[in-house]
Amino acid sequence: MPVFFDEEKKIFKLDTAGSSYIFEIYEQGYLVHLYYGAKIPDSNVTSFVDRGFFASECPVNINIDNPRFSPDVSPFEFPGEGSGDFRSSAIAVRNEEGNNVTDMRYVSHKIYPGKPAIEGLPALFVNDESEAQTLEVLVRDSVTGVEAVLFYTVFEKYSAMTRSVKVINPTAKTVRIERIMSCCVDFATHDYDMITLYGKWLKERSLERAPLTHIKQGVASKRGSSSHHHNPFAAIVDHDCNEDYGSAYGFNFVYSGNFVFEAEIDPFAGTRAVMGINPEGFEWTLESGESFSAPEVVMVYSDAGLGKMSRTFHRLYTDNLIRGKWAHIKRPLLINNWEATGMDFTGDKLVTFAERAKELGIDMLVMDDGWFGRRDDDTSSLGDWIVNEEKLGGPLNKFIERINALGIKFGIWFEPEMVSRDSDLYRAHPDWCIHVPRREKSIARMQYVLDFGRKEVRDYIYSLMYGILSANKIDYVKWDFNRYLSEAGSAGLPADRQKETFHRFVLGTYDILNRLTTDFPDILLEGCASGGGRFDPGMLYYSPQIWCSDDTDPIERLSIQFGTSLCYPASAMGAHVSASRRACLETKGNIALWGTFGYELDPNTFTEEDRETVKLQVNEYHKYYDVIHSGDLYRLITPDKNDFRAAWMFVSRNKEAALVTSVVMRTPEDRAFFLKLKGLDPDKYYVEDESGEAYSGALLMNAGLCLNNYGNADGDSFKIYLRAL
Ligand code: GLA
Repeated sequence: MPVFFDEEKKIFKLDTAGSSYIFEIYEQGYLVHLYYGAKIPDSNVTSFVDRGFFASECPVNINIDNPRFSPDVSPFEFPGEGSGDFRSSAIAVRNEEGNNVTDMRYVSHKIYPGKPAIEGLPALFVNDESEAQTLEVLVRDSVTGVEAVLFYTVFEKYSAMTRSVKVINPTAKTVRIERIMSCCVDFATHDYDMITLYGKWLKERSLERAPLTHIKQGVASKRGSSSHHHNPFAAIVDHDCNEDYGSAYGFNFVYSGNFVFEAEIDPFAGTRAVMGINPEGFEWTLESGESFSAPEVVMVYSDAGLGKMSRTFHRLYTDNLIRGKWAHIKRPLLINNWEATGMDFTGDKLVTFAERAKELGIDMLVMDDGWFGRRDDDTSSLGDWIVNEEKLGGPLNKFIERINALGIKFGIWFEPEMVSRDSDLYRAHPDWCIHVPRREKSIARMQYVLDFGRKEVRDYIYSLMYGILSANKIDYVKWDFNRYLSEAGSAGLPADRQKETFHRFVLGTYDILNRLTTDFPDILLEGCASGGGRFDPGMLYYSPQIWCSDDTDPIERLSIQFGTSLCYPASAMGAHVSASRRACLETKGNIALWGTFGYELDPNTFTEEDRETVKLQVNEYHKYYDVIHSGDLYRLITPDKNDFRAAWMFVSRNKEAALVTSVVMRTPEDRAFFLKLKGLDPDKYYVEDESGEAYSGALLMNAGLCLNNYGNADGDSFKIYLRAL
């Protein structure tokens, strides 16, 4: 069984195919972390408790007769605030006396098959109870009586586990949670780098790597969403870890709001990493009898570098995070009008898009922003979800009938959480947006954020969306989110609960996403937030695909797609061919093929040659769909390491097929190019589709393919498709 409890030694051992995670119930009920890393057979590792404590000023527990045990240095599972551990704490609860000293000790535990859902929050699930096993550990602060349940779910076959926490107040008093981290890992050593994904609008999820130091480092968002600027992902890796070698510990937070990941080398040469809701701007009041569930962290361990870590995340998310009908069936190939028309379109114009789409083999037309209210530019109408029939040339259902009559499916854009200052909704309910009294509301894109923490606000918006979605044949919804939260307060909350606004907003968004996916299970949802500003596992739980970035320049997209691929699968990456100026249509197609694939341009502008290229790409989309969407990704040449070329490949899980893609970002100085492939079966022979040449997997991986005669100029690209003999 993946979760094992040694009654005598009081040790928990959580094993997966490739990792072990061990902790013990130490004296006085302290939960002491012992080991996390490559799988080991031993469970008796109690000597790992000793972290070399020697400093006389370190606080100790007088009931423990071990001078080498101190909260200041010992490795913990769930360290409390202010009780002798000065590193980042996992929990701080302010009690009725006004202090936030918190000290949670072991009470009991249970182990059971499967994985419980987290109420109101997205989380990994099991398709069958045999896929995972869960350990719940109940801890209690003996002074305040406040309790917490620590959840550990082990996905044995994936070298992955999840951790989350539920805080319970069984006391008669009201308490306030000031800080709640969903996981804390105390590594015994410190020779690590930290990898994170930073960015901004048009430059999301670029990889950054730096050695850990004694200075606390981390990434965070306090923008109200997971943000363009830092993804809720971090990896702690060996200094010499690369794509194929070394230990990598990946952490990904299943949450779409403010988060923090922090790592620090402590003075005793260990490393503490914590991840959870960003405590800045957060506090939660827990009345007597209430509980609070913190979102979960997904933890993946790889003993063979970043590539294996990514592939584990991809498989896990494909099988146990992305839900519903679209998780495993082929997605429609779409064309979106946004970059071609902006809001300046008519129904007739879009019908010409659908006509061209039909000729080219495209499956669906998505009508983006501008179809409702008086929305001819971005200054008005968000919140007024009433079809602009004048623009569409009639009612929406009639317009969709025209599209469907061509054999083309129809998708539509919404930005549910927003309200324009110039809107009937804002004029009627100015207090329905996130704001605080007496302060000017900052405006962005001439819009405010609706207070989705309030049920009446959510109900109103959802009733409009429901009306449109239930009365019309809509196959796809793009859910957008185009500004951050500022002056974060809620008119629906009392003064002492204002710091709940951010989290309640996220819960409100999840509530509407849940209603929408329950009421309309056939609709394919695509997340979006000014491009990829909310690309996180929380959104992925509801929307199987997320628009990667508003930057559709194919060469710039490379670093975004490489970064995104660290933990998110290709099937999740919204990627389109656009009319952007750089690179030819073939290269744009080759890069977009890595993701969901689609078009974001006016197909009426195509030349005859373009049309032939697009038809070819549509065929390729179908031909390579399975290897890309269900196969394993190998990053061969990454843009953070090489200025000239990027290359990647997908290998089917049975190693029968592989698709290799290479792009020239800048004309290389040295034209000699041998590309060593990965992930193939060394004993199989593979036939190259175009040339008919056969090579062994061993040759392809060790000698590589000689590609000197392939395109070598700026923006050139090529694909090689291999099939096992
Ligand atoms: C955001 C999205 C775009 C488009 C516009 C519409 O910027 O990222 O794809 O939908 O909004 O306003």
